[in-house]
Amino acid sequence: MTDTPIRLADYLPPSHLVDGVSLTFRLDPGCTRVLSEIRFRPNPARTGRPDLRLDGEGLALVSAALDGAPLAVQPDATGLTLPGASLPDAPFAFTAEVEIDPAANTALEGLYMSNGMYCTQCEAEGFRKITFYPDRPDVMAPFRVRIESDLPVLLSNGNEVASGPGWAEWHDPWPKPSYLFALVAGDLVAHSAGFTTASGRTVALNIWVRPGDEARCAYAMDSLIRSMKWDEEVYGREYDLDTFNIVAVDDFNMGAMENKGLNIFNSKYVLALPETATDDDFARIEAVIAHEYFHNWTGNRITCRDWFQLCLKEGLTVFRDQQFSSDMRSAAVKRIEDVLTLRARQFREDDGPLAHPVRPEEYIEINNFYTATVYEKGAELIGMLKRLVGDEAYARALDLYFERHDGQAATIEDWLTVFEDATGRDLAQFKLWYSEAGTPRLKVSDRFEDGRYTLEFEQVNPPTPGQPVKQPKVIPVAVGLLNPNGDEVLPTTVLEMTEPRQSFTFEGLGARPVPSILRGFSAPVVLERETSPEERAFLLAHDTDPFNKWEAGRALAKDVLARMVTGGAQPGPDWLEALARVAVDETLDPAFRALALRLPGEDDMAQTLHAAGHVPDPARINAARERMAGALAERLEPELGALIETLAEPGPFSPEARAAGRRALRLAALGLVTRRDGGARAEAAFRAANNMTEEVGALACLLEIGRGQEELGLFETRWAGDRLVMDKWFALQILHAAPEETAATVERLTAHPAFDWKNPNRFRSVVGALSANHAGFHHASGAGYRLLADWLIRLDPLNPQTAARMSTAFETRARYDADRQGMILAELDRILATPGLSRDLGEMAGRMRH
Ligand code: PHE
Ligand code: ZN
Repeated sequence: MTDTPIRLADYLPPSHLVDGVSLTFRLDPGCTRVLSEIRFRPNPARTGRPDLRLDGEGLALVSAALDGAPLAVQPDATGLTLPGASLPDAPFAFTAEVEIDPAANTALEGLYMSNGMYCTQCEAEGFRKITFYPDRPDVMAPFRVRIESDLPVLLSNGNEVASGPGWAEWHDPWPKPSYLFALVAGDLVAHSAGFTTASGRTVALNIWVRPGDEARCAYAMDSLIRSMKWDEEVYGREYDLDTFNIVAVDDFNMGAMENKGLNIFNSKYVLALPETATDDDFARIEAVIAHEYFHNWTGNRITCRDWFQLCLKEGLTVFRDQQFSSDMRSAAVKRIEDVLTLRARQFREDDGPLAHPVRPEEYIEINNFYTATVYEKGAELIGMLKRLVGDEAYARALDLYFERHDGQAATIEDWLTVFEDATGRDLAQFKLWYSEAGTPRLKVSDRFEDGRYTLEFEQVNPPTPGQPVKQPKVIPVAVGLLNPNGDEVLPTTVLEMTEPRQSFTFEGLGARPVPSILRGFSAPVVLERETSPEERAFLLAHDTDPFNKWEAGRALAKDVLARMVTGGAQPGPDWLEALARVAVDETLDPAFRALALRLPGEDDMAQTLHAAGHVPDPARINAARERMAGALAERLEPELGALIETLAEPGPFSPEARAAGRRALRLAALGLVTRRDGGARAEAAFRAANNMTEEVGALACLLEIGRGQEELGLFETRWAGDRLVMDKWFALQILHAAPEETAATVERLTAHPAFDWKNPNRFRSVVGALSANHAGFHHASGAGYRLLADWLIRLDPLNPQTAARMSTAFETRARYDADRQGMILAELDRILATPGLSRDLGEMAGRMRH
């Protein structure tokens, strides 16, 4: 493969700026005409009359002209070049007419069709599949769009300015990069509402869906209105157009897209009714709606100079959506869930061949960098910055950021300079977090003498691909100290670590305190400290910091499970008693108790064992975890019945966090009871369920003990007509399949008539579930590896983006034994040897191969 990397160091400002774009779309499934007029102006920042490069891929050029004079240009495979010497040294207009084939677009990038509806996806580089354009985020322009089609609903960015039978015209006054362009045309209906901004303007809100789905939009609309209000109250940011449109599409590679004034969503993150969506779905909808809405300021009004700066918009917007969710729900539970995801996805990525800095310095295919590192670690960096400068300075810095960079395409340097200017701090060392990959290890030891307690920290920054040596980072370590009687003697204090080794001393203590370190998970590091089970149980019982309280229980469980895997021991009474106390403690939030009862995941365990110098055996981890659940079920048996009964929700279904937390704890208890009663209660719960959380939750309990076949049939009959619910039906069977049956289950389900593998959601619910079943995927036969590679190779020519993302299942290769490593390598080689492999999957497999 001859794909050469793009480098941050090679950045050059655009040769020309765009004063305005007018586009006309004559929509036709197989042959859409796109007419464009782009008004260019030489960029004063560039001298020497540089060439103008227009990106364009898969476009049939019909004609082109410069200031009305026909141009004879011959595009190459990726665009066309207008030689600088042939261009006026003054503003000029480039016009072109191209032909594209949306019906044949299976990659779902550019203009494509989904169930008879036209839609677009332009981030990162999809606009070049629509027309010739400088398709880079630092070229921002106002767009005018005319859509011609007989379809009833024709939408684009901004405000609708005129329409008639078979056409509509839209104008977006806000200059934007091409990746935020969007167009939708279809037979759609709207769920509408209104919003009055803080300054009194009214905004029409519409959620556009297929006829029949309009009753499923209420929660998304409510989330949107709450997001708009929250962004005004917390960040002082108002919406800036007369209309805000959201469209739900069934075929979408990602979660959703923040196109200016016209967000396009995977229907999974819009449509919800209590009977079709689980509590997790409701929470995700709320978060994704907020995320896309918040991009209007952090992403759209201030965008990225180039794609290396992706974390500028994504890290900040994830941080903002996390803040929003924690204000709407329980902050403690939200933080624990976010850290669980960070560890499961980002720490895992940082630990393997795909590790890269939050701001990468090179890429082959930018679509491969929409990662947990850019998003989730990017958000952690914002959180650290806020912790270091304080809430008040953070608010000031954000105001300055919006004031200084509104309307610009900015960089991480711009972002950090704003913080330096607002606070007077030097952030040079902090910036290393953006440029160095890898998860720092924070080793802690302590000593106590004459009332003086000293915490000594050492940070180790492990090597990652291309970065053998690292510098010490700034690490905000939030600590608290507890007395042996459980009282807090030092409330949360942020220690600022900047050296490789550093100690902090606390004076005047009557007794040796118990430290609570890294409260709230104040930095994305791995804490390494010899801690006794007694101390962990003590913190689980007494810590005032809810994150560390949970973390203590988690660490206890992981220690127990690690010993069970490596030594075959049975879980001791310490852990069981500590957990039993939490389970029935009615002073605690049920959602927190549910999280505490959730056993460590198998992939997480494999990673932890690997980090501790073991070679994880997926089958043993699975068996040990089963025994652990069995022991917990036995110990808790006397309390479970009462838990299940008292937690039943009396009134009508509410998607709110409080009610969802009760359901979560009830289902955790049901899962344990099912291990004791052979499934009687879960069967009853399945039949009585009046919401999807309980229906699917009860079914999962049954599948977990190898039952539930009859219920699966009932479920299928009931939900055969509902794509989103059927995705759950597919995924559940695979996620809960026994290790030796996982591959066969996948094969059976891929032969099911409803397995539409070209639909990304359906593909993920089957092939993604395969790699999410740790023991099944890593089964010693290698069947899981082969099956995944088969499907990636099959999907790649149609949808390279989704194939590439799903290939990350192989990133953990180095953890396992030589046999498994060899089998994974063989599959990567098989992928790499596939003729016509995409740049997307080629880059991923290549990086994982080395
Ligand atoms: N920018 C989108 C988001 O974070 C994600 C996305 C990326 C969607 C690329 C589609 C393509 O909200
Ligand atoms: Zn985003």
